Amino acid sequence: MLISVDRLIDFAEAIIGRGGGSREAAAQVSRTLVEANLTGHDSHGVGMLPAYIEGIKAGQLHPAATAEVIQEKGPFLLVDGHQGFGQVVARQATEWAIAHARKQHLAVMSLRNSFHLGRLADWGIMAAEAGFISIHYANVLSPHSLVAPHGGRQSRFTTNPYCTVVPATERHPLFVFDMATSTIAQGKARVAYMKGETVPDGCLIDHDGNPTNDPSVIFEEPLGAMRTMGLHKGYGMSLVCDLLGGAFSGGGAYLPERVIDGRIINNMMTILIDPDVFGSAETFFGDLDSYTDWVKSAEPVPGVDAVLFPGDPERKTRVERTKNGIPIDDGTWNQLLETAGSVGLSEAEIEQMVSL
Ligand SMILES: NC(=O)c1ccc[n+]([C@@H]2O[C@H](COP(=O)([O-])OP(=O)(O)OC[C@H]3O[C@@H](n4cnc5c(N)ncnc54)[C@H](O)[C@@H]3O)[C@@H](O)[C@H]2O)c1
Repeated sequence: MLISVDRLIDFAEAIIGRGGGSREAAAQVSRTLVEANLTGHDSHGVGMLPAYIEGIKAGQLHPAATAEVIQEKGPFLLVDGHQGFGQVVARQATEWAIAHARKQHLAVMSLRNSFHLGRLADWGIMAAEAGFISIHYANVLSPHSLVAPHGGRQSRFTTNPYCTVVPATERHPLFVFDMATSTIAQGKARVAYMKGETVPDGCLIDHDGNPTNDPSVIFEEPLGAMRTMGLHKGYGMSLVCDLLGGAFSGGGAYLPERVIDGRIINNMMTILIDPDVFGSAETFFGDLDSYTDWVKSAEPVPGVDAVLFPGDPERKTRVERTKNGIPIDDGTWNQLLETAGSVGLSEAEIEQMVSL
């Protein structure tokens, strides 16, 4: 089905509100989730709502929790998210990190114990719009490990995302590089599974360690695993995310004793850097402009329209979906309807919210 941005926000907001979120939290969470759908990342969009409501019901997502500064030391800032909505506590933590970086050109902020943070780009973009280069390493303590170490057969950690955002120049938009360190994000395997589709080669192994394209190995016994992107290099990057995002913040690296049903905890280390510290920001942004032009001037290979920069695909999808509406697959839509019913929204209320 195709739904307009405003209707989807209203529907998501109503589910979160009835599910226990305050009016303000429901507004923030729904807008951030729909932004993920708008930019083409359905894996991190409204399809996460069933997991959020389950988290609240299991007492693992604390819908009224806000972030708290635990420690400040020079440029370092440790924040606890108290298992609140990631979309709420990460916004607070990023605002504090920005204020910190304004004072001393740098902030190293660890946010621990946040419920699911969604797309790391949301926080990187917020910092970049305030003028800072923003670097993020995050781990995920979710109930099942998903990703196998390079050369291993069983999963040992999850999709640990990494992100860097660089402020826009007068000629070019934000550089937004934001990715899971697994070959695909878990939500993309979920979306393929719900649609009954396969995933590309090289993403998954079955329980015997053989390559497979069938996403059911992630959701049905006997369980297989996802692979890290870029073979041993992505594997190393994923470990860095668990160590810097998880262990370093005190939130913890992925260990079996740290995972609990209904809980999706993200721990994230964020580094904000003033672009004006080495030489001048003007030189840096001038070089960024020339470099962007140079890289994008490469002729595309057959079947590709143009060489893109990170962030371009999301901007393109955003324009398209803002105009035409957001496609939601049947499996995800049915789960949303079920979740809406489970928090007490009647069919008539839902109909009124989502019909054209
Ligand atoms: N909160 C969590 O626990 C969690 C866990 C994993 C992933 N995530 C999020 O999932 C989202 C999706 O991750 P993903 O790995 O599926 O992203 P992806 O593979 O779709 O994109 C990764 C990056 O590559 C860029 N890109 C894509 N195609 C390109 C092209 N042709 N040319 C140049 N650049 C291109 C994108 O702009 C993006 O910056 C991210 O926002 C990530 O933060 C969150």
